Amino acid sequence: MEKTEAWSLYWQNNHQESCITKSNTEDHVILSDIWRCFSLQLRHCSTVLDLATGNGSVARRLLQFNKSLKVTAVDRASIDPKKYTDASVLLSTVHFIPDINIQKLPFDDCVFDAVTSQFGLEYSKLNLSIPELVRVLKHKGQFLFVIHHEDSEVVIPAKDKIKEFNLLLASGLLDNFELFLAGSLTLQQLNEEGEKILNNATWSKSDAITGQVFLAIDKLIQLKNQNQNLVVILKAFKDMKTRIDAENSRLNQLILASLSKDKVQKLCTSLEKLGTKVSFKLIQLNDNAGVMGWKIRGYKL
Ligand SMILES: C[S@@+](CC[C@H](N)C(=O)[O-])C[C@H]1O[C@@H](n2cnc3c(N)ncnc32)[C@H](O)[C@@H]1O
Repeated sequence: MEKTEAWSLYWQNNHQESCITKSNTEDHVILSDIWRCFSLQLRHCSTVLDLATGNGSVARRLLQFNKSLKVTAVDRASIDPKKYTDASVLLSTVHFIPDINIQKLPFDDCVFDAVTSQFGLEYSKLNLSIPELVRVLKHKGQFLFVIHHEDSEVVIPAKDKIKEFNLLLASGLLDNFELFLAGSLTLQQLNEEGEKILNNATWSKSDAITGQVFLAIDKLIQLKNQNQNLVVILKAFKDMKTRIDAENSRLNQLILASLSKDKVQKLCTSLEKLGTKVSFKLIQLNDNAGVMGWKIRGYKL
C-alpha cells in the first residue's frame, strides 16, 4: 500500500492522533505540557504552521491554552478533520490543508511566527523539509518539534507488531479463508487449519493483532453461514486486508522515521546551518519508564 494512503485511511477513520493511545494518560499529560508552555509564550494572534498535522493534535493542544493563535495545519494525506472526525470546536478556526508535502511548502518566505510538528517532520526527507520550514519562518520565529526516538515506548512495541503481522500473514490464514469462500475448503477444514496455525504459532499472539484478525474472520464465517451475499462478504474481507496493510505500512514508516541521538544532532546541525539557534533534549517518561521521544526547540536568527 502506498504510504500516504495508509495515513489518509487512518485519519478519515476518526482517529484523534497517532503514536499515543487514548488510554495512555501520561503521554497526553507530557505532550499537553510541552504544547501549553510553547503556546503561552507565543504573542497574541501569532501565526503557527503545524507540519504533518494528521487530525490536528498539536493545533488542538495549542489552541486549548492560547485561543488567539492563527493555526495553519498541513499534511500529505487527504485529511479533513472537520469532515471525518468528531472535531473539537477548538479546531473550527484552524486552516487545514490536505495533500501538502512538507518538502515543498506552498507559502511565501518569512510568513509564520512559529512552526511545529509532533511525530511528523521526521517522516519526510529532512534535507528537503528543513530548508522549507526555515524559509517560511519569520526572523525571531520559533519552532518546536516532538520527534520519534529509536527506542521509544512506541517504537519498540511497533517492531514486535510488525513481526506478528508478517508471521500471521505468512501462516496462510487469509489464503485459507479465500479457499473457503471459493468452496475449495470446507468449514471443518478451515477450522482445523486455523487451529493448526494457532497451535504452531512461533510468534507471541496479541489480542490487538492475531486476536483481532481471528475475530474478524469468525465474523465473516458467520455471515457466510447466514447465507449473506458473497459480494458483501468479499467486500468485507477486502476491507479487512486493506486495514491490515495500512497498519503494517504505518508501523514500518514509524520505525524508519525514528531517530538516534546522532541523527537528531545532525538534524540540529542542519537547522543551525540555515541560520537558527537550536537545542534538543530527551522527553522522558516518569519513574524511568523509558522515553517518549526527542524535543527540538529553537528560533530563526
Ligand atoms: C505519526 S503521524 C503524526 C500526525 C500528528 N502530528 C499527530 O501527532 O497526531 C505522521 C504524519 O506525517 C504525515 N507525513 C508523512 N510524510 C509527510 C510529508 N512528506 N509531508 C507531509 N506530511 C507527511 C503523514 O501523512 C501522517 O499524517
